[in-house]
Amino acid sequence: MTDQELINLAVAARKSAYAPYSKFFVGAAILGESGKVYSGCNVENASYGLTNCAERVAIANAISQGESSFELLAISVKGGGSPCGACRQVINEFCPASMRVLMADENGILVKEMSLGELLPDSFGPESL
Ligand code: THU
Repeated sequence: MTDQELINLAVAARKSAYAPYSKFFVGAAILGESGKVYSGCNVENASYGLTNCAERVAIANAISQGESSFELLAISVKGGGSPCGACRQVINEFCPASMRVLMADENGILVKEMSLGELLPDSFGPESL
């Protein structure tokens, strides 16, 4: 699985985004240790606060299929963009600080790459308890 292949899966997932309120469509694809990829899109709700972000949907998708160790995450948003704070925390629950996060635009062009540790320094996670 190349970086670009994972990005392409995030771009594809973005096409399923349900975002009639914000019209901000997000796709995510996360590569599990098994080699399988799990994708997700944002799912909004008329009760706005119930919105689920794409990254968390992708991770929940993986967890619900029995995979909980990950190697690489790709996100696709218009113009490229980084995961929100809540998503960073959820990603941190399952992923090593060294894991790379690929931030691509809606066409699959890589805009930025950062490690999870860079995105969420001095994190609070399972090892903190
Ligand atoms: N969103 C995500 O899916 N991931 C993020 O990391 C940031 C925000 C979604 C939530 C909402 O549907 C829309 O983008 C606007 O905030």
